[in-house]
Amino acid sequence: MSAIVIDGKALAAKVKEQVRAKAKKLNAQPGLAVIIVGDNPASRVYVNGKKKDCEECGFFSQEYALSGTTSQQELLELIGKLNERQDIDGILVQLPLPEQFDEQEVLRAIRPDKDVDCFHPYNVGKLMIGEEGYLPCTPSGVMRMLEEYGVEVAGKHCVVVGRSNIVGKPQAILMLRKHATVTICHSRTSDLADQCRRADILVAAVGRTGLITADMVKEGAVVIDVAMNRNEQGKLCGDVCYEEVAQKASYITPVPGGVGPMTRAMLMENTLYAAQSHGK
Ligand code: GUN
Repeated sequence: MSAIVIDGKALAAKVKEQVRAKAKKLNAQPGLAVIIVGDNPASRVYVNGKKKDCEECGFFSQEYALSGTTSQQELLELIGKLNERQDIDGILVQLPLPEQFDEQEVLRAIRPDKDVDCFHPYNVGKLMIGEEGYLPCTPSGVMRMLEEYGVEVAGKHCVVVGRSNIVGKPQAILMLRKHATVTICHSRTSDLADQCRRADILVAAVGRTGLITADMVKEGAVVIDVAMNRNEQGKLCGDVCYEEVAQKASYITPVPGGVGPMTRAMLMENTLYAAQSHGK
């Protein structure tokens, strides 16, 4: 069997087109502030992508590129000002921040109604108890892909490999909210291959090239690769050994062109939601 490839790029284009159409009907333009600190090359690529998405969706975007020597206080002051601005609906601080920052304090400084990443403890708490509100971009992008391809989640065994606050933990919660039985695996999981083989839906979000091999995947499983790594040749790749796993899975996401574009599209949806919630 050869898996159906989930085309994240095409789906993201469709989502952004829908967002653009809805944004057009608002009485003011949605606005997103993107803060980048330091010169992490991967962060630069991500931030450029987000600015381009804003243009495509008809949003106003403003980038704040701060030097790597910026202090915690200076960053908090900038966020404080953006919190008060009417033209800014969403505030995104690109992670990771340089070492001198207390990341959690920075994320808590973003007003929850402008927290389009869904990283503020208030929004994470709402996510946990199933209240309506922001959804984190990568996990909600994964859920949208499953939905669009008709993959039922209720009653399935989902195995999430990785327990980060950005992906693994919220991914597990979203799957639980859709009535899956969820296992979270991490670096101390003693029988990773066995756990993965039990998955109807396997989500890999670790950041280690070659981690998920075909022998760890059940025949017909749905395999979602969230990672964005570079292999020895410098080529973008995920955690999943794509060629061999695609022979066994029923659906699979490629890297690039899978989860990445959907993460960005969900950020646009969240920014639209922010603008609507601000009465635009
Ligand atoms: N760094 C890696 N992923 C993300 C993300 O989704 N949002 C932000 N702000 N930073 C990130």
